[in-house]
Amino acid sequence: MFDNGFIHITNVDYSDVVIQNMALTHEHCCSEMKWKVMDIRDMSEFQSSTFDVVIEKGTLDAMLVEEKDPWHLSDDGKALTTDILSEVARVTTQCGKFISVTFSQPHFRVPLLMKVLHGWSVQPETFGNAFSYFFYVATKGRSLGKKFPTVCPLRADVRVEEARTRHASAPREDFLLSLDL
Ligand SMILES: C[S@@+](CC[C@H](N)C(=O)[O-])C[C@H]1O[C@@H](n2cnc3c(N)ncnc32)[C@H](O)[C@@H]1O
Repeated sequence: MFDNGFIHITNVDYSDVVIQNMALTHEHCCSEMKWKVMDIRDMSEFQSSTFDVVIEKGTLDAMLVEEKDPWHLSDDGKALTTDILSEVARVTTQCGKFISVTFSQPHFRVPLLMKVLHGWSVQPETFGNAFSYFFYVATKGRSLGKKFPTVCPLRADVRVEEARTRHASAPREDFLLSLDL
């Protein structure tokens, strides 16, 4: 993403080892990037409506790994999900996006997201053939259907359009280049 022009990226993880190593690895190539040790259940260091796009890749999966039954989350799992997604919703701008990259299939992940992200739409995408993974693009304030008013018009972000045009021949599996931000 950085190489494609998205240079204002704040990366968080609750492991200080991860953050230190990643900050060190990227200090010369990507000096605009920020690195913070943070628990995503409490992102109070960030003001509300700070980010246009929030991306999680495998973090929800890691945090829900002890769940026994994906159809019925435990009370702890439900509370955890609510805490995470409430914080995500808080720090995302109106009409901003939350992107969740996961092995969790739509029949599990969409209801999980929609339970907390009220007033958002969710668009699932599948990547890969034999061993598929999924990403979900949720838009804050986008209509879910005729019943719900559309707050956010479809937005053409010039930089994204440029990035997509330049990488038109990239394989479809390169999901970040396929995003409609
Ligand atoms: C599957 S890894 C994904 C790492 C990275 N997002 C990537 O795509 O390479 C899950 C990450 O979630 C982090 N993590 C687990 N619980 C967390 C929490 N409560 N707050 C922030 N990060 C957490 C772990 O330290 C781990 O680095």
